[in-house]
Amino acid sequence: MDGNGRWALAQDKKRTEGHKKGGEAAKQVITQCAKLGVKYLTLFAFSAENWNRPTQEVGFLMDLLLLYIKREVTTLTKNNIKFSVIGDLSKLDDKTKKAVNDLQNKTSNNTGLHLQVAISYGARQEIVNAAQKIAASEQGFTTDNFAKHLYTNNVPDPDLLIRTGGELRISNFLLWQLAYTELYFTKTLWPDFTADDLNKAIDEFKSRERRYGNV
Ligand code: IPE
Ligand code: MG
Repeated sequence: MDGNGRWALAQDKKRTEGHKKGGEAAKQVITQCAKLGVKYLTLFAFSAENWNRPTQEVGFLMDLLLLYIKREVTTLTKNNIKFSVIGDLSKLDDKTKKAVNDLQNKTSNNTGLHLQVAISYGARQEIVNAAQKIAASEQGFTTDNFAKHLYTNNVPDPDLLIRTGGELRISNFLLWQLAYTELYFTKTLWPDFTADDLNKAIDEFKSRERRYGNV
């Protein structure tokens, strides 16, 4: 979900206004995915590297995440959405950790869309963490066992990655899991991204031929 800051700048607003609008865009995309019968949606909300942003912006983003996690429980319940978080949660403050746990527990039996939110997430960190866990155990370094020790254990690899905001890079997101994912880049800034834009990306995805290295 990239482009909040540039969206705000273009409207002569503060970056934080872009993040606020971005939160609303996320809500639209989540409900559209639930409506379409998408089984898994992972949103990259805050990266391990985003901690290096100015303290005030980090604080704003954390407050906004907490607000949504607390406020949107009815939206998730109504739409049968199961919520979980991936990332290094040890860096979050206690009230956010608690809210995350509460929402995970409250929605754990929901059988519709599984919404994963990546918070304080970095793929290299996730991979090193998996390697450390395996090394400390008696288990072997097979690809299957490696996948089981990632944060995304039990969640299939993504079919489609959408990056908004015009940058053509992965930025430390799901590096292991994206091995055969179809990539979709759009210049649309995240706060402007609508359900229609999502439909467009999915239509494009449907036209791709996936061969997984086969002929
Ligand atoms: C994405 O928008 C939101 C987060 C990373 C939390 P940005 O804040 O990166 O917006 P730009 O890239 O500066 O426009
Ligand atoms: Mg950005």
